[in-house]
Amino acid sequence: MPINTALVIGSGTMGQGIAQVAATAGLTTHVFDANAAQLPKAQAAVEKSLAKLAEKGKLTESVAAAAKSNLKMQSSLDAIDLARCDVVIEAIYENFEAKTGLYKQVQSRLRPDAILASNTSSISITKLAAATDRPDRFIGMHFFNPVPLMTLVEVIRGHQTSNDTVEAIDALARRFGKNPLRCNDMPGFVSNRVLMPMINEAAFALMESVADATTIDEIMKQGCNFPMGPLTLADFIGVDVCLNILEVLHRDLGDPKFRPCPLLRKLVDAGHMGRKSGRGFHVYEK
Ligand code: CAA
Repeated sequence: MPINTALVIGSGTMGQGIAQVAATAGLTTHVFDANAAQLPKAQAAVEKSLAKLAEKGKLTESVAAAAKSNLKMQSSLDAIDLARCDVVIEAIYENFEAKTGLYKQVQSRLRPDAILASNTSSISITKLAAATDRPDRFIGMHFFNPVPLMTLVEVIRGHQTSNDTVEAIDALARRFGKNPLRCNDMPGFVSNRVLMPMINEAAFALMESVADATTIDEIMKQGCNFPMGPLTLADFIGVDVCLNILEVLHRDLGDPKFRPCPLLRKLVDAGHMGRKSGRGFHVYEK
């Protein structure tokens, strides 16, 4: 099945980035967000990113202009011809009921051959798939922030995902200019199962006064050649998001090694969620 039209659900940071790479690849890209006030912000963020990439010569001006015209921001699902959508990529906040509620709203209006993909970083693909009318055409398509710059898409096969679905999403990720790597559905998949314990351990090191936050980050940057230290990365991802993923890993794998550091919880309780709230492990200028 050729994929020419996409619906991206959610216009937060991840939804914006996914919509941008889909539109840049030439797909007619609808972006749905029930919060109409968010859509102009998403449009502005995508336009800023496209302009930056064009300025750096990573996109031609004409591709950037085409991408802009391929994007259709919508605050009502009724405004979208869902029967024309070949793929839906859901990128809303991490809540099982909210996600499956949206799938129920769209699935009866999609063609039976359309694929439903979720950008979830921690919810079971198998469980999400089982709540839809198409568990064989449901898949995890996990992008990384900032989506326009990061090359990886983690492609997660749920228990019932068909080979055809995996192949189609692999090919779609390549059209987006990404490198798809496949894994099976287990808590945290590969990326967060490996990344989050490192961030957690950095938080424990800070809590136990092994070094201050800047020193911990610099040691990991300069010593391991990471582009960002783990505490800066936690602020970039969102301290609340990191805590949530660690809670899923701890609960679903049942292994004490994933126990979230109490300092993560304390920062979240204080409202210090990282870059988005102006403060996390570090303080950011507004
Ligand atoms: N679009 C276009 N350009 C962008 C951009 C975007 N969305 N975001 C940043 N840029 C540009 C910047 O404007 C900057 O341009 P100039 O050179 O003209 O100033 C350029 O990219 C480089 O940015 P920076 O100088 O700020 O910093 P950098 O060289 O360190 O690169 C980075 C930025 C790519 C984010 C890099 O720091 C990095 O790779 N960090 C790690 C990111 C990471 O690990 N992401 C994964 C998080 S985990 C996740 O997403 C999944 C999950 O489930 C939690």
